[in-house]
Amino acid sequence: MRTLIKNGTVITASDTFAADVWIEGGRVVALTHPAGRDRAGVAVEREIDATGKYVIPGGIDVHTHLDMPFGGTTSIDDFESGTVAAAHGGTTAVVDFAIQRKGGTLTEALDAWHAKAEGKATIDYGFHIAATDLSPARLEEMAKVVKEGVTSFKLFMAYPGSLMLDDEGIFRTMLRAGELGALISMHAEVGLAMAPIIERALAEGKTAPIYHALTRPEVAEASATERTIALAELAGVPAYIVHLTCERALARVREARDRGLPIHAETCPQYLFLTEDALRGKPPGEGDGEFDGAKYVCSPPLRPGYHHEHLWRGLRNHDLEVVATDHCPFRQQGQKEMGRGNFAKIPNGMPSIETRLYLLWEAVREGRISMNRFVEITSTAPAKLFGLYPRKGNVSVGADADLVIWDPNRTYDLSQKNMHSRADYSPYEGRTVSGAPTHVFSRGELIVENDRFLGKKGRGHFLRRATFGL
Ligand code: URP
Ligand code: ZN
Ligand code: ZN
Repeated sequence: MRTLIKNGTVITASDTFAADVWIEGGRVVALTHPAGRDRAGVAVEREIDATGKYVIPGGIDVHTHLDMPFGGTTSIDDFESGTVAAAHGGTTAVVDFAIQRKGGTLTEALDAWHAKAEGKATIDYGFHIAATDLSPARLEEMAKVVKEGVTSFKLFMAYPGSLMLDDEGIFRTMLRAGELGALISMHAEVGLAMAPIIERALAEGKTAPIYHALTRPEVAEASATERTIALAELAGVPAYIVHLTCERALARVREARDRGLPIHAETCPQYLFLTEDALRGKPPGEGDGEFDGAKYVCSPPLRPGYHHEHLWRGLRNHDLEVVATDHCPFRQQGQKEMGRGNFAKIPNGMPSIETRLYLLWEAVREGRISMNRFVEITSTAPAKLFGLYPRKGNVSVGADADLVIWDPNRTYDLSQKNMHSRADYSPYEGRTVSGAPTHVFSRGELIVENDRFLGKKGRGHFLRRATFGL
């Protein structure tokens, strides 16, 4: 099948240019100037007129939690609903976290995640391992999974008693990752302090969702970020800080990068567009009252609004390189409500996989970031950092035709009724944005056309990623 997207404006991380995009065999095979005649007469099976629209590389979301057991329940989107939602929002690849069971092997974790994704994923997917138990045998085993294209490991300084690793474990894993060319990602919050702070809050009767945010202050994140950087510097390896939320943690990253250290960081839309106030919920009698705030419980928590400007500046000056979603959806009914009367039992996470590009385009419209930077932080930089480039993350000859036709004038209401996640709410209810995809291609196959899903369950391929190459 040969497809031509004609008359569009191609946006890449570095360039903006008028081009016709030719797709064949799942790849981009040519970019030609619309005025040129070099392809006149070439037969095409499908032609799409993108006049007045942009052609961008499909979004790559390197931080998702699909079908993940967590906090006494399981995130509500599986690889089918999660990837359908992603595709509707213009994301054409995800890298999800395979969670190692305490005492389990890395291979077991990967096998479990392959079983979750195969036959369900509608777009291409890779895995990181979220490592929770790294004995010498597991450090040895890291080589095996890296060979299989799973080239990054997330470690947790938070969640004591479940996911948290101690500093020696973290350091040994960093050393091993350095030998293998793998990238260590870090959930940076001082986990050890959390349990006593939370116990004290609950004893004082502070049980509402807002106390989730108030018991995980900025200093906990800043300090763990600093410790991650110190350990990575000692080990002589790169590190990637996931879901960075606040000014002080960002300052630690900036300082490290200014010293030339290979420290990389991501933030998420919720930290750019929502504030801690959301956790205060609604007035009594309205909706779920103060418990409405449970919808916004995630870790690290949402912060006061003044952090937004710092994060936008970080994105502009490249101290923050990626915006990923940390999509970890739970329903308010039946899941979040496990924490009614005890904020510490509210499952952590929120739906985000579908709304990332819509929200970030608002930042383009407001002049906070350029269109090229939009493409870079949502697609090109994650592809480069996580071993998917140049196959994905760009509009270039030879690359997979994972493409989005983006209509900057199309309005879209981010209400739950328009979302494809199984979550029973949208964190962005009531927000209407301008700029939306009209066509989404995955390896040349048109999988979304004007809100209609055309892809097939199970068509997504597993992505073997290269080792860290920056
Ligand atoms: O609240 C969050 N972020 N849930 C997902 C797990 C994690 O720490 O990324
Ligand atoms: Zn995390
Ligand atoms: Zn996460």
